[in-house]
Amino acid sequence: MPTTIHPSAFTFIPERPTLASLTRAAQDCTACDLYKKATQAVVGAGPREAAVFFIGEQPGDQEDLAGKPFVGPAGRVLDEALIEAGIPREEVYVTNAVKHFKWEPRGKKRIHAKPTLGEVKACRPWLETELALVKPRIIVCLGATAAQSLMGPKFKVTVERGKFFETPWAPWLTATIHPSAILRMPDADSRREARARLVEDLRGVAARLRG
Ligand code: URA
Repeated sequence: MPTTIHPSAFTFIPERPTLASLTRAAQDCTACDLYKKATQAVVGAGPREAAVFFIGEQPGDQEDLAGKPFVGPAGRVLDEALIEAGIPREEVYVTNAVKHFKWEPRGKKRIHAKPTLGEVKACRPWLETELALVKPRIIVCLGATAAQSLMGPKFKVTVERGKFFETPWAPWLTATIHPSAILRMPDADSRREARARLVEDLRGVAARLRG
């Protein structure tokens, strides 16, 4: 198979980007192969001056169609956890480490496929530009893909969740479980416990915002 040479995502980013121009420019991105099967690139949503910046993995089926992050089932888990933790969703910025939906067909369904390290790296210029525009006080990584995109492949959410780290992109970064991981849990008890832990981690974010 011939190898495709992809241009860097940097070549698609406007010289003086805004969040709106970034979303438009991302539609032309061919920095990895994922654009070929996705409906559109899904860049983040939320106020430019948001203090809290959430990063998920990649848009899901519904996000791919809507063009907005976290509007499907995982988004509902996140919304409920934010309410319980006392963090208004309209005050946070929400985005993903990877901007195109990666999926495999299963019958008529499009099933989520995990992005490779190369795809995550190829997408990082978009994430870094969003971070540079929003300049949040706290970054919250939802799951391993988001956390490893910024903190490196050795970062383990299971070990580090709930802790706060200083970073070049924000005074604080923390990581917690991805809402989709909760939805995938096999029984109601594990889901209840995992939701409670997510809320606890988000309460830690709320406390740090106040402090
Ligand atoms: N999962 C994610 O990581 N991001 C979304 O936007 C939706 C589901």
